[in-house]
Amino acid sequence: MEIILLLVLAYLIGSLPSALWIGKLFYKTDIREHGSGNMGATNTFRVLGKKAGIAVTVFDILKGTAAVLLAFSPYFANTPIHPLVVGVVAVIGHMFPVFAKFKGGKAVATSGGVLLGYSWPIFVLVVLTFLLALKITKMVSLTSMVVAVMGAIYGIIYYFITGDIYLELVIVLMGAFIFYRHRANIARIKAGTEPKVKWL
Ligand code: G3P
Repeated sequence: MEIILLLVLAYLIGSLPSALWIGKLFYKTDIREHGSGNMGATNTFRVLGKKAGIAVTVFDILKGTAAVLLAFSPYFANTPIHPLVVGVVAVIGHMFPVFAKFKGGKAVATSGGVLLGYSWPIFVLVVLTFLLALKITKMVSLTSMVVAVMGAIYGIIYYFITGDIYLELVIVLMGAFIFYRHRANIARIKAGTEPKVKWL
């Protein structure tokens, strides 16, 4: 019973469509009708500016973190399910949100939040990699995929240090989600039409 409650809560947390709600509430804008149409932090930066972009980034990261921490919380601590699986369910909620017709984001920020909830050093490493890759590529989409690959390498290192293989397995799974959700971006990158960030 507790497993089901935990998974439903994780899915609902992940489903919270921050980009859609912040856009509608504070900017009278439906983010889905502008820019790439994606309900994520990048498109929020693009369409609504820095303030909204930062708010969505933080919110979407915290969704993944909250789900993992919920699984670690005293109430659910004895529930026989790995906290990272609970985090993955939040990422699924982010991609297929019940509050937005099951059309959500591309899994990047919420996956990062899962890492933050489970191993903050890996999260810090991933954020630093993200900033460096973004400086070089100037494309958030390409950066996200580079980070997905690098994350898998960090996961292997984490395994050799801690003996815990779950993080690596989940990083590979979330990385696969990220690649799958960036299909349109991959086509644009190949065509040379993917937008670049201007503020770097
Ligand atoms: O996190 C999503 C980002 O990698 C790409 O977003 O709006 O450029 O498709 P967008």
